[in-house]
Amino acid sequence: MAQINQFASLDRVDSVAVITLDNPPVNALSAGLRTGLMEAFRQAKADPANKAIVLICNGRTFIAGADISEFGKPPQGPGLSDLFGAIEGGSIPVVAAIHGTALGGGLEVALACHYRVASPSARFGLPEVKLGLLPGAGGTQRLPRLVGIEKAMAMITTGDMIGAKEALDSGLIDEIETGDLRQGAIAFAEKMAAKGGPHPLVRDRNDKMIAARANPGVFDEFRKAHGRRWRGQMAPNHIMKCLEAAVNLPFDQGIAEERRLFQELVNSDQSKAQRYFFFAEREAAKIPGLSPDAKPVDIKTVAIIGAGTMGGGITMNFANVGIPVTLIEQDQKNLDRGLGVIRRNYENTASRGGLTADDIEKRMALIKPSLKLEDVAGADLIIEAVYENMGLKKEIFTKLDKFAKKGAILGTNTSALNIDEIAAVTSRPDAVIGLHFFSPANVMRLLEIVRAAKTADWVVATSMAVARKINKVAALVGVCDGFVGNRIMRARGLQSERLLIEGALPQQIDKVLTEFGFPMGPYAVTDMGGGIELGWRRRQETGAKNFIGDSLAERGRFGQKAGKGFYHYEPGSRAPLPDPEVEEIIKEASRREGIERRPIPDQEIFERLVYPMINEAAKILDERMALRASDIDVIWVYGYGWPLWRGGPMFYADLVGLKKIRDRMLELQKLYGDVFKPAPLIERLVAEGKGFADYKAAA
Ligand code: 3HC
Ligand code: NAI
Repeated sequence: MAQINQFASLDRVDSVAVITLDNPPVNALSAGLRTGLMEAFRQAKADPANKAIVLICNGRTFIAGADISEFGKPPQGPGLSDLFGAIEGGSIPVVAAIHGTALGGGLEVALACHYRVASPSARFGLPEVKLGLLPGAGGTQRLPRLVGIEKAMAMITTGDMIGAKEALDSGLIDEIETGDLRQGAIAFAEKMAAKGGPHPLVRDRNDKMIAARANPGVFDEFRKAHGRRWRGQMAPNHIMKCLEAAVNLPFDQGIAEERRLFQELVNSDQSKAQRYFFFAEREAAKIPGLSPDAKPVDIKTVAIIGAGTMGGGITMNFANVGIPVTLIEQDQKNLDRGLGVIRRNYENTASRGGLTADDIEKRMALIKPSLKLEDVAGADLIIEAVYENMGLKKEIFTKLDKFAKKGAILGTNTSALNIDEIAAVTSRPDAVIGLHFFSPANVMRLLEIVRAAKTADWVVATSMAVARKINKVAALVGVCDGFVGNRIMRARGLQSERLLIEGALPQQIDKVLTEFGFPMGPYAVTDMGGGIELGWRRRQETGAKNFIGDSLAERGRFGQKAGKGFYHYEPGSRAPLPDPEVEEIIKEASRREGIERRPIPDQEIFERLVYPMINEAAKILDERMALRASDIDVIWVYGYGWPLWRGGPMFYADLVGLKKIRDRMLELQKLYGDVFKPAPLIERLVAEGKGFADYKAAA
């Protein structure tokens, strides 16, 4: 065996050259790997004894794409188009042997090979759109030539993967190898060599492109069906242009168009934001400073207390991955209601084709209903999700301390209560942690893991591992009012209310944020989630007053479910319609404060909503309530709908420039008071000419 370089080796089995790549963890196409691969092909093709070539990867996967960290840096090593020339040239067949995931540039390498064989568990995709990119190494031109334009549009605009069976049926691969992949691929290569050439190149396949020309309306139809989802984003629209080029232009011209549009994307702020976010999400999983002995323990059984809105959703997360859950309620009525909602949720998923009847029964069978708190005894992890009431939570945790087994984790889903205070009623505060799921808990990806003063490292490590297991994205935060996400939202909410009173209306505020890229504005969200009623009830307990919120609640304007809230809803419709009654309430609020309403420009609305968020986030960082600025971005993207292609509020602040934001805040401070006083961290970073990306908490 010849070692070509650190990443590639060349071997021969009879008359078949085998090139093996090894670049853990995912065999990304780094400059070093491209150099090794190019040289391996050169040597393999130069040796007349070789009648075929197999390309295979070590480790857990075939090539999972370009090395994302190389984008935006000066190019090094051979480019992919030179590499593909080396693969496609000459007369002997090249077979890609695929296991794990063939993604992005990795799938594009496989598409440049003459043949593709794969393990039954292999998956295939062009996920570049998720990075704000398009497949830039021929993927937009080669994939439709194999699978047809409709499937290519679906795969490339969503970035979703398909499995081996679907890949075989659609013509993407030539064979599924159920035995040893290496041996099977070598046997396949020998067979193809014996059959003789010329061996097919995807670039020469034009039958499906010619067929597609008969239906030129296919692109507009697809845009009409999916364009709403792409609102504001460049990548899906550029991808569609490339696919039109694949159908209408000769291959090489299509490639040139792909290259041009790829360059536009790779230099765009959108793609920069999405590439940043790819690493931010993975960084959030890493917790510095944990004791090396703090290994995650295996969570085999879970108990959840409270089968309401949150408890039910949380239960589903565990049942979905096969972990048994004891679901505990205070009475039969609430238990039956909670179980009914869970079943209905599963049935809804099934009706959309996401689950079989058998899957539903299997998941429901994993949920053991109970009315006895003692039944937490067997659980490795307990999550309390009863009403948000400190007295009740303390009572429950006092009992949990008695009933839970030694070594169990005691989690609370509180959204605002002080977890140190809850932990203090137990004899094991080291086992107590906040597990703050977001509603609907079976859908929302974010989990804020709240480390209390005494939480043990192994409890943090285990909670992070559990999050990953149930497909959540976790961010570790500290105990403070509202934790990280809600605390930042409150800063925005306070300004939002001032804007209403000074002259804006809910529809204008919502429009400013949806135009920025939020899927919904805050007032439409409040109507959907029942926030008017929740806030009103909370104020009734504390005696606090809020004129607009109270007036809406007193008129039964509880949101979508009541057909009216900040907006009016026609029966059976979720479309928010402006309502004169709401406008009147808001005008009355202005009168009561003696404020003469004025038209407020959209730009001012935006700055007054978003800059206090950035300011609050800076305070959170200074107080060490979040580990890093990028964790705050992860929280806002996964928990609050900040558009991923804008990276998150911290990334956005850096993009605008912290100095510019600070200067504008000083102006706003003069007009609207100290909420706009720049946080000390912002002042420090500006003085040092830095941004949040440079921020490192002092050790
Ligand atoms: N480039 C650089 N690093 C990568 C990478 C890539 N393409 N893919 C994964 N990594 C790194 C991750 O950052 C992570 O690093 P860390 O351990 O230091 O945090 C490590 O590899 C493992 O990744 P995951 O934690 O995501 O591992 P999983 O097993 O959960 O998932 C995966 C594996 C499905 C391959 C997932 O990593 C993934 O989706 N990767 C990105 C794939 C992708 O987007 N490819 C297209 C790139 S763009 C392209 O190819 C352009 C071309 O058209 C020219
Ligand atoms: P909910 O009112 O829908 O459900 C609470 C459930 O707890 C009810 O079914 C009730 O019967 C049950 N319960 C009350 N006392 C009990 C006891 N002693 N033993 C067993 N069960 C008992 O409330 P929701 O919305 O699910 O909230 C639960 C917790 O989650 C609260 O702490 C809340 O702040 C938090 N949270 C809520 C979010 C939301 O959007 N609803 C988001 C994130 C956190």
